[in-house]
Amino acid sequence: MEKKSIIRCENLRKIYRIGDEKVVALNNINLDILQGQICCIVGTSGSGKSTLLNQLAGLEKPTKGCVYIGKTNISTLNENQLATFRQRYLGFVFQSYNLLPTMTAMENVALPLEFKGYPKSKRNKIAMKMLENVGLKKRARHKPTEMSGGQQQRVGIARAFVSNPKVIFADEPTGNLDTKTTIDVMQTMVGFARKYNETLIIVTHDPELADYADRVITLIDGNITNDYTHVPIFEREGYVPVPRLSETKKEAPSEKTNSPSLPQENSAPRQEEGALPLEEETGKIPAEIPVESFSETQDAAENPKPQEDGFCFEIQEEIPSDHVEI
Ligand SMILES: Nc1ncnc2c1ncn2[C@@H]1O[C@H](COP(=O)(O)OP(=O)(O)OP(=O)(O)O)[C@@H](O)[C@H]1O
Ligand SMILES: [Mg+2]
Repeated sequence: MEKKSIIRCENLRKIYRIGDEKVVALNNINLDILQGQICCIVGTSGSGKSTLLNQLAGLEKPTKGCVYIGKTNISTLNENQLATFRQRYLGFVFQSYNLLPTMTAMENVALPLEFKGYPKSKRNKIAMKMLENVGLKKRARHKPTEMSGGQQQRVGIARAFVSNPKVIFADEPTGNLDTKTTIDVMQTMVGFARKYNETLIIVTHDPELADYADRVITLIDGNITNDYTHVPIFEREGYVPVPRLSETKKEAPSEKTNSPSLPQENSAPRQEEGALPLEEETGKIPAEIPVESFSETQDAAENPKPQEDGFCFEIQEEIPSDHVEI
């Protein structure tokens, strides 16, 4: 099936002003990112990678242009709407993990489910399953300071994916990790994204990490200078996943499989594995963005039906012509 655009930005420009000085961090960026795509944004320090990620995730407002996620022009949302939108549809993985220090691994992973109104027993059960998926069941009651950097990042990944987000943003997720741990963390992240057909956008200054992506976008001085797709390393012939660092031999992934170390052979429904679909129980969020093509849903595309809170999440092929420029 043809993949649909889940993020689109048009004529995106970000200028920072400090006193009289102007820094053009992003210069007229146009991008379409497809549903399920694993996308790496690479470039040297100061090239605008984090700025672009922050714009795509609605963490900062553009100076000009707009960003759509699904059919929602996030550039027009106010701070409260953006917070709700992010909670409901986006996941984040941070370079410094950003786990809450007073909470255990399980409580950290369960947190996004609390925001979504899940009862405690249910969210703990789901969080435990997610921790098991990232090989950290035995660390569930550990606080962040009682875990290694790689372990903390795997908790961060479990937290980012637990609530079935549409897009996961990761800014230098392996920036604080050594080479072996980096592979472990990358395998975990791309494994989840691929398994659940979730869109993953990774910012990195490490060009080797581009191997894990379907698509590699290079930035220089706020401009896209290269944008290509390729078969990611874990789908290339002969690829053998690197066993998880903490895994015993028995738990290590089968060498026959050609997918990352997480989660593999098991094709059981996602809910049983940890992450959600939630709406059947809470009626609060849609499980999937409908993926009908634009031509099949012309009316919906032209007059997208807002939900109660005003967000529209159908995936778009065509950007609405009346989009707002900020
Ligand atoms: N809040 C800000 N105020 C002023 N200038 C900023 C701000 N944030 C970023 N910049 C400038 O915008 C440009 C792009 O910065 P950005 O953080 O996006 O780079 P980057 O590619 O993520 O770099 P790194 O690899 O070092 O993280 C830089 O010149 C930076 O100095
Ligand atoms: Mg950066």
